[in-house]
Amino acid sequence: MRSAHVGLSRRVRAALPTPTRKHCMWITVCQSADVPPGTGREVVVVDQIVAIFNVDGAFYALDGVCPHQGGPLGKGSLQGCVLTCPWHGWQFDVRNGEFQLHKSIVQPQFDVRVVNGDVQVRVVSELPKQT
Ligand code: FES
Repeated sequence: MRSAHVGLSRRVRAALPTPTRKHCMWITVCQSADVPPGTGREVVVVDQIVAIFNVDGAFYALDGVCPHQGGPLGKGSLQGCVLTCPWHGWQFDVRNGEFQLHKSIVQPQFDVRVVNGDVQVRVVSELPKQT
């Protein structure tokens, strides 16, 4: 297959953005027994801090850095499905990431699954495209 950049000068090719492709992978971050119902846990996945929560046996994963001032959401307290940040008390629904005072603020979520007791988080990264 021919590159789309054939025929362009070296200088023009160098100025083009590097083509990328998305790469998805499931990464085991802990065991389900490590996060009992009604609790949360902070983990690092690749280079991202992720907060894992167990609500009555259902697992959820949010970006672990609070959008207020960077507090550790994985170390917050969980009441039902509502997480309270340990630093200043901002509250989020862990099922969808919604901030409880302004639904327009949504903490990013990660897909999470449990496979044979392993809690896995899906990470999407961009890799340079092979040419
Ligand atoms: S850092 Fe989370 S509420 Fe302030």
